[in-house]
Formats: sequence, C-alpha cells, structure tokens
Amino acid sequence: MKKTVLVTGGAGFIGTNFVRLLTAKRPQWRVINLDKLTYAGNLKNVADISEGDSYRFVRGDICDSALLATLFRQEKIDTVVHFAAESHVDRSIAGPAAFIETNIIGTFTLLEAARRAWLDSDGTVAREKCCFLHVSTDEVYGSLGDSGLFTETTAYDPRSPYSASKASSDHLASSYFHTYGLPVRITNCSNNYGPFQFPEKLIPLIFNNAMHGRPLPIYGDGKNVRDWLYVVDHCEAIEQVLLSGENGESYNIGGNNEMQNIEVVTLVCDLLDDRVGLPDDGTPRRSLITHVTDRPGHDRRYAIDARKIGEKLNWRPKVTFAEGIAKTIDWYLDHRDWVDEIVSGDYQNYYRQMYNR
Ligand code: NAD
Ligand code: DAU
Repeated sequence: MKKTVLVTGGAGFIGTNFVRLLTAKRPQWRVINLDKLTYAGNLKNVADISEGDSYRFVRGDICDSALLATLFRQEKIDTVVHFAAESHVDRSIAGPAAFIETNIIGTFTLLEAARRAWLDSDGTVAREKCCFLHVSTDEVYGSLGDSGLFTETTAYDPRSPYSASKASSDHLASSYFHTYGLPVRITNCSNNYGPFQFPEKLIPLIFNNAMHGRPLPIYGDGKNVRDWLYVVDHCEAIEQVLLSGENGESYNIGGNNEMQNIEVVTLVCDLLDDRVGLPDDGTPRRSLITHVTDRPGHDRRYAIDARKIGEKLNWRPKVTFAEGIAKTIDWYLDHRDWVDEIVSGDYQNYYRQMYNR
C-alpha cells in the first residue's frame, strides 16, 4: 500500500537513519522530511537522497501550525512518524525551555494538525489509512534499581526536564486517541547508538575525545546502566509498528543489552586502539577515562522488556552489541570529516560550558 509519510526530525540521528531506511526500502512511498535544522539537525545526513516523487525535504518547525496545515493539505499526508525533539538530557538540565517548546507544544501542534486534516477532512485522506506514530523514550519510566524491567504498564516517573517533556508528549498523544479517536501509536525505546549520532551523546563523544587524546568524562562511578540498541534495529521496529501495530497501543523497544557506562567506554577505547593503533606515547586510550561530577538526578538503570513487540509484531533486534559497536566505530572512522565539522562550531562552547563546570 502506498503511503505519504511526514517524518519530523528526519535530519537528526534516528530520523536520518529512518528516512534512509524508508527511501531505500519503500521507494513507492512518499517521505516528507520536516526538520527545523537545530544544532542537532544536519542536512548533509540526507543530502544524497534525491528529491522527487519519493522524497522531499522541508525546513520548518513543528510548532508552526500554518506550515503543518499546508503540508497536510498539499501532500495529503496519511502517516506521521514523529521524531522531532530536543533530545539531550544534559541540555535539558542547563536550559529546559526549548524542551517544553518543541517536545510539548510542538507535539501538541502536530497532533492538532493531524486531527484537523484527518478527522475534520473532506474525505481526501481516508481515515482508516492514517497513523500517527509518536516516537518516545524509556526515560519516561524513570530509574530502575538492580532488578526489574520497564513494561508498557510501568507507571511514568520522569526525572529530568527532557524525560518530563517526553512523558507529557506521550500523554498528549494518548489523549488524542482516547478523546478524538486519532489513530495514535506510541513507541518507547532504550538508548540508540550507530551512524549519524551527534557527538554530545556518550558513544560519539567518547570516540571524538579518544581520537584527540582528550579526557573521557564518565559521570559519577560509571556504573549507570543503559540498554543499548543499534539504531537500524530501532528503525525497523518503528516500521513494523507502522505496518502492523494497533492504534491506541504503545510498544517498548529495547536491545536486551544492559551495560554499565564504564564497560561501553572501555570497549570503545579498545576498539580504537585495535583499529588505529595505540597513541604515540603507547598508552592505551582507556587511560584517558576521567570520573567527573555526576549528572544531577542521573537515572541509575534503564532496561526494557520488549516481549510485547516481539510476540505481537514479531520484531527482535538483529544486530548484537559486538557487531553494532564495531560497525559504529568503523562508520565514525570513515566519517571523520562529519564529526570534525560538527565539533569545530558552536560545539566548542557547549563542551566548555558542560564539562568545565
Ligand atoms: P536528535 O537530537 O539527534 O534529532 C532531533 C531532530 O529534530 C534534529 O534534526 C532537529 O533539527 C529536529 N528538531 C528539533 N526541534 C525541532 C522542531 N521544533 N521542529 C522540527 N524539527 C526539530 O534526536 P534523536 O536522538 O534522533 O531522537 C529522535 C527521537 O527519538 C526523539 O523524539 C527522542 O526523544 C527519541 N528517542 C531517542 C533515543 C536515543 O537514544 N537517541 C532513544 C529513544 C527515543
Ligand atoms: O534511554 C533513551 C534515551 O537515551 C533517549 O531518550 C535520549 O534522547 C538519549 O540522549 C539517551 O539518553 P541518555 O542520557 O541515556 O544518553 P547519553 O548518551 O547522554 O548518556 C548515556 C549514559 O552515559 C548516561 O548514563 C550518562 C553517561 N554519560 C554521558 C555523557 C554525555 C557520561 O558518563 N559522560 C558523558 O559525557
């Protein structure tokens, strides 16, 4: 079945991987990539995708209701995959306002646009064909102790302005299903890693610092646990929810791959030593690990129970962490220019402010 998909945030990390997957795998679909190109969005990520019947890029803000109304009408959008967000926890602690604006007001504006286009429509878009897939995070569930997993019925308990804004957007999306019958589906995923991730996030930040012989900042004792999932596996899970998920349902997505931060960072260092050789002084890169002041309110452990999406939609991660992290490091080594360009700009100020506290 042909679809016209509005992807928001398709020039960011996961959105880029999703747009690339969809345009390659489903050329009969039309993808409209709407992105504001904030510091986290990079048009070069999608520059090689030809514009035409299958793909169009639009620079714009999800808070712009007039632009959204035009796009829904002009393009007869029947599917939304909503990635656009402010996504970095540390930035949300330093300045929460943008998170409230984009993650809450932006999601609300997008839900309203879809409601008006699909539910008050003149019949140009068949309602039963429509789907609003809201991409969210496991961080809405808060922090786990040493045991237990997040399921779809775990109570929300967000701890950072980022996770609180995402929780709020999940509640809004869910309310549009219950109140207006908007065909909403929600996904809550664990930590992604892979190509195109902005080097403010742990793995690419460690890659960049380690390549330059700089200290590798580990918050607190480094024993916080995340459940790492290769980004393409996440994108395929989203595709599966689009194709066979049910409206009004949420799906947890995870890698079944819990690791302490210190383990991840050590592995990245060892992979680099192996691939590019030891630094000139012969000291392994792991010696650059430096424990720094902990993130305020730092969630201790996340771990996803992904049985529902496995049993109902037959999705399981395909890429092991060993394979995924090796591919990721190779991608970053092959794309040094991509990283260098990012870290040469405003990133320098960001890094100074964040890490010289
Ligand atoms: P990202 O920060 O890399 O990309 C966000 C993109 O959204 C950027 O291209 C940015 O330009 C765009 N954007 C920001 N504000 C916008 C606005 N107002 N209008 C239009 N575009 C805007 O984020 P990511 O890591 O790719 O995450 C994408 C989504 O997935 C987010 O909703 C995030 O909460 C969710 N998520 C991320 C992870 C993860 O590990 N990265 C895990 C689970 C869920
Ligand atoms: O769980 C899903 C979430 O994963 C997504 O919703 C977020 O958008 C995404 O950013 C990510 O959040 P985290 O806060 O877990 O990711 P981050 O890469 O910032 O940090 C991963 C872990 O590493 C976390 O425990 C904090 C720690 N850390 C991070 C940085 C940037 C460090 O120890 N040092 C660092 O310099």
